[in-house]
Amino acid sequence: MTSPTAGPTSMKASLPPALLPLTEFSHLEGHCWIARLPEAGEGDSVAAPLSSSLHVLENGRPLGPGHSEHQHIIAEGGGRYSHWGDTLYFSTSDGAAPAHDGRAYHVLVQERLGVGPWSQIARQLAHRTDAPTPAAVYAAAEALLASHYPAAMLGEDLKAFWGETALRETYTRLCGSNQRSFERKFAVLGLLRLTHQVPGDVAECGAYEGATAYFLAQALAQADRRRQILLFDSFEGLSAPDAIDGGYWRPGDLTAAEARARENLRDFATVEFYRGWIPSRFAEVADRRFAFVHIDVDLHAPTRDSLEFFYPRTAPGGVIVCDDYGFTSCPGARVAMDEFFAGRPEPVVHLPTGQGFVIKA
Ligand SMILES: C[S@@+](CC[C@H](N)C(=O)[O-])C[C@H]1O[C@@H](n2cnc3c(N)ncnc32)[C@H](O)[C@@H]1O
Repeated sequence: MTSPTAGPTSMKASLPPALLPLTEFSHLEGHCWIARLPEAGEGDSVAAPLSSSLHVLENGRPLGPGHSEHQHIIAEGGGRYSHWGDTLYFSTSDGAAPAHDGRAYHVLVQERLGVGPWSQIARQLAHRTDAPTPAAVYAAAEALLASHYPAAMLGEDLKAFWGETALRETYTRLCGSNQRSFERKFAVLGLLRLTHQVPGDVAECGAYEGATAYFLAQALAQADRRRQILLFDSFEGLSAPDAIDGGYWRPGDLTAAEARARENLRDFATVEFYRGWIPSRFAEVADRRFAFVHIDVDLHAPTRDSLEFFYPRTAPGGVIVCDDYGFTSCPGARVAMDEFFAGRPEPVVHLPTGQGFVIKA
């Protein structure tokens, strides 16, 4: 994939984006939170107290009123905000802490909306005092994407897995408020369930901070399936991409601290760490057998090396997942999977999450 939580492609727009995600917050006082907005244009000032054209959206719904006095934001909250200088002072709709409430916060810079149908929808949303319906917000987001980034699609709304509250909370704790890779974590858990009757351990190639490993370990514990979970990672990020990997990645991207991964996984005695460049540590586990293998190293060579090692050691009925299979940022991983399985009986199933998997024949 890309980063463990980010989308695969960076969008190059000719205009500065009108919709900016808010990702870092600090608490000021009472209900008031602060986000720095160096990219969002001029805010209010003493000389021009109503100059900001910015709207704050919470899960696509406009908060407000804007231009609120700071004492009211602090004391009353309720979505009041103020864009002052290069700083946003804001409150959430219900007093929740924005970094931990599982919601998405954005600012919409009205002067960048330009013209066109989605701009009108976005303007209407930003100016409504009543709450727009979720369907209207979703449609506006679809229109925005279609207008500015046609290759990106939102897919279906109303998918029940977004309501998996406990999993979402775990995800947010491990991965932050960006929910992009939650669907892949959820898919991994479903694929793991397919292997509950298959003998063998679990391996992950590319563990980063251990988020997927956490979900795997937790699910196995809850299902009372005792398996070791073997994690292989350089903890120095990606190795050097080859030409087949395209131009998206650089050596050292996605470097995670091993200590952080160990801390995240400290509750699970079943986890084993194998630090080093793939495949240097594989020989130490050559006599093990596997029921589930998760390959998530983004590049061709370590994906190929992982397949060559783990496929013959995966029991019939076992599952091998390539997290990166369907991402245009990871063309080498897809080639590695397709070439490896071209002469073998297992078809590679391409999931709309971007993952590809096989069930060992
Ligand atoms: C996308 S992250 C893995 C995310 C993790 N599976 C998760 O879901 O949380 C990719 C990881 O692969 C590791 N990696 C990439 N190339 C590697 C190689 N050649 N040898 C060992 N580790 C590698 C990186 O250090 C990084 O931690």
